[in-house]
Amino acid sequence: MNFITVKSYEELSQKAANLIAAQIMVKPNCVLGLATGSSPIGTYKKLIEYYENGDIDFSAVTSVNLDEYVGLDGTNDQSYRYFMDHNLFDHVNIRKDRTFVPNGCATDIAAEGKAYDELIESLGGIDLQLLGIGLDGHIGFNEPDEVFTKGTHGVTLDESTIEANARFFASKDDVPTAAVTMGMGAIMNAKKVLLIANGANKKDILEKAFFGTITPAVPASVLQLHPNVTVIFSEN
Ligand code: GLP
Repeated sequence: MNFITVKSYEELSQKAANLIAAQIMVKPNCVLGLATGSSPIGTYKKLIEYYENGDIDFSAVTSVNLDEYVGLDGTNDQSYRYFMDHNLFDHVNIRKDRTFVPNGCATDIAAEGKAYDELIESLGGIDLQLLGIGLDGHIGFNEPDEVFTKGTHGVTLDESTIEANARFFASKDDVPTAAVTMGMGAIMNAKKVLLIANGANKKDILEKAFFGTITPAVPASVLQLHPNVTVIFSEN
């Protein structure tokens, strides 16, 4: 594992964007696994800059996002589809029909999960998976559990996750209590994993996840078994 500590969110965003840009340059038709949350916003801003400067071309890129809230459709400004359109897709030349986000409004979430995994498989898997990390160690919305779940699946969000994500909503009561998330199978099959985290409050969970016991109680700890992981951390 390559654990990089940087001095600022700006530097974190620059380095993460450089790694993603390099992936796109090396393999223009790559499959990017993308993430939401506050951490990747700066990275996406840099990627937009690179695109505007003519340094990268998204025209052959496919993206698959990690997760979506159950019950929110893409027109809802709290949905992760909306987040991706707004923070990245609408500003670069990626083909919208090549951007995939799990459907949180699917009537059968189990069937949606199966279809999403089949889609990822049909794409040949993920070349580079970008991840954030939740304060409880979740990646995507894989919450602490007794097992690691392999496939894309429905989850009930932990109270601490609902509280952490309430900052994005008008009130805590508005935060959906369920989500659909890519499982550990597709994440662990990604050829490269890039996890970004910023803020002093992420230090303890990073320590547990990358230097502690590998356990589904700390979902991100499974990444210790991945052969190509880069972590970029900024305390500020
Ligand atoms: C959400 C997302 C995760 C993300 C996490 C951390 O719960 N589902 O994919 O990693 O938030 O978010 P932040 O980057 O805002 O700390």
